Amino acid sequence: MRLVHLSDLHFGAVESGRPDSLREAVEALKPDLMVMSGDLSQRGTEEELREGKAFLDSLPQPLLVVPGNHDIPHGHHLWARFNETWKIYREVVSEELEPFWQNEEIAVIGVNSVRRGGWYLDWSRGHVSRSQLRRIELWAAGLPEHLLRVMVVHHPPAAPPQGTRRHLMDKRRSLFTALNRAGIDLMMCGHFHMSYAVPLALPGMFSRSAVLSVTSTATSHRLQGEPNGFHVIDVKSDWMEVQAWTWGEAGYAISREWRFARDENRNWAGVE
Ligand SMILES: [Fe+2]
Ligand SMILES: [Fe+2]
Repeated sequence: MRLVHLSDLHFGAVESGRPDSLREAVEALKPDLMVMSGDLSQRGTEEELREGKAFLDSLPQPLLVVPGNHDIPHGHHLWARFNETWKIYREVVSEELEPFWQNEEIAVIGVNSVRRGGWYLDWSRGHVSRSQLRRIELWAAGLPEHLLRVMVVHHPPAAPPQGTRRHLMDKRRSLFTALNRAGIDLMMCGHFHMSYAVPLALPGMFSRSAVLSVTSTATSHRLQGEPNGFHVIDVKSDWMEVQAWTWGEAGYAISREWRFARDENRNWAGVE
């Protein structure tokens, strides 16, 4: 089972020609499922989202997409941001902000961590509410035990090994408890424009770890010290390989690889 994990395409701020190179690279990888973990556009305008959606439609399918904090009206358009938060996204990209996908090997749930704002300064911050956590647990309770359980959400709940000054997802304690109970194996995020794959500790009555895949911006010039890139995730029951593909002179190529194995308690650990 092969997943290709894209994020933060940021139409409105893409490098010229980069989406075409990305499509070419991704087509050759023959994924079983494409995942786009948010920030399809730069300022959430209809034009940018239409361009982004046309690009997504041109990629191998099926493709599951969740929104990012850049996919709603910008803070300068306060009225639209608060009153028509999801109008354009729903019309242009997807009516469903939290899509599902499933086959005989894996089950995927999309979660919307974007918030329109509040009495705090950084409106790019992400959060998953109690009712969303409840929904994840209900979804998981109905799944056959053998399926790999994957959650896609824009904001990461854990920092890269090299650190970040940006906010992690809010209210992580209740999130981790819920993910532990739901038996989540893999979490796919973006937002930081940095690439890493690490075990994600999920405390609980029986503590265990999932795998966290966070990928860089695939196509935009809004770089955070790392080149454009995406992840390829190969999964075979209790084994997972995450490859980072990064942009260079010869196009997108493998730059790094992480391996993980799972024990009988759904506990994932890195393997050298
Ligand atoms: Fe982004
Ligand atoms: Fe973001």
